[in-house]
Amino acid sequence: GERTFVMIKPDGVQRGVVGSIISRFEDKGYKMVGCKMMDTPTQHCEKHYEEHKERPFFNKLVTYVCSGPVVAMVWEGTESIKGSRNLIGATNPTAATPGTIRGDFAMEMGRNLIHGSDSTESAAKEISHWFEDDELSKWTHHSKEWLFE
Ligand code: GTP
Ligand code: MG
Repeated sequence: GERTFVMIKPDGVQRGVVGSIISRFEDKGYKMVGCKMMDTPTQHCEKHYEEHKERPFFNKLVTYVCSGPVVAMVWEGTESIKGSRNLIGATNPTAATPGTIRGDFAMEMGRNLIHGSDSTESAAKEISHWFEDDELSKWTHHSKEWLFE
């Protein structure tokens, strides 16, 4: 299956919704293949968000994401990049549909709880930016016959 990089931002950790967020990915049928909490070094975060470095909100964004521990994860499943973005919801939580993570748990763009890769290229880049190969587990989902056609 396709892999995507997902990160619960520091507000998700502080607000105690890590479990609720992980449950949504598990409920969908995605398989967790990597997960770690980390205090993100500023340069590591700047590199992750380098596509936004000319944007006016860049410094605020980096300060926010470095303000406490994050939970970095890799999830695998059918079209997991697009599917995870749908679970996460719109960037602005005000516009995010209820039922999505941002729609249900967040109010502001600068406290929108979670990141998900937006393309095959960014997923590949972000997975290798955040994880070593040996930090990703090879395991078989016990109910895979019931998840995949
Ligand atoms: P990520 O999954 O975090 O990459 O969010 P996204 O793909 O939905 O949005 P995008 O990549 O465009 O922006 C990255 C992050 O920057 C967003 O999740 C927000 O936290 C923040 N951000 C984007 N636009 C704005 C803005 O206009 N103002 C502020 N304060 N933050 C913004
Ligand atoms: Mg993005």
